[in-house]
Amino acid sequence: MKDLCITTTIHRYQWDELSEQQQTLIEEAKRMTRNSYSPYSHFRVGAAVRLKNGTIVRGSNQENAAYPSGLCAERTALFAANANYPDQPVEALAIACYAEGRFTSEPGAPCAGCRQVMLETEHRYRQPIQVLLYGQDVTYVIDSVDELVPLGFFAEDLPKH
Ligand code: THU
Repeated sequence: MKDLCITTTIHRYQWDELSEQQQTLIEEAKRMTRNSYSPYSHFRVGAAVRLKNGTIVRGSNQENAAYPSGLCAERTALFAANANYPDQPVEALAIACYAEGRFTSEPGAPCAGCRQVMLETEHRYRQPIQVLLYGQDVTYVIDSVDELVPLGFFAEDLPKH
């Protein structure tokens, strides 16, 4: 038996170490938490996506009384970006979470379903998506979605026909 060790690098940034472009995208994600529709979880998530042409597309979590019908902020933003700007690669995605009257101190991490959609987008445009996970105490910066999804499932894994 041999082990396969897959490592992930997460850069830990203080707010003033981030570039202006990164701060702007995070501010958009923070602002979007206000548009969250989360009467069931009371957990407000905002997401903002920056496209290659500089356009910023926003999303927030949208819940539903039939719980599985709701959608996370990241997927809301990414699907809107892909639907409205199908020719524009996604360069960066920022996420912020707000609960109990404040932004979370630690960064919120995208759920596995969102990571899979982020991965598809990254591979679709063949360029890394920088992921910015905001927390009041620290912001995590990840250079690509591949880092967040070891052993990812891709189109190439499907049968050819
Ligand atoms: N949520 C997101 O918007 N993104 C994630 O990656 C994790 C979870 C939302 C879904 C639901 O509306 C609420 O947070 C609680 O799970």
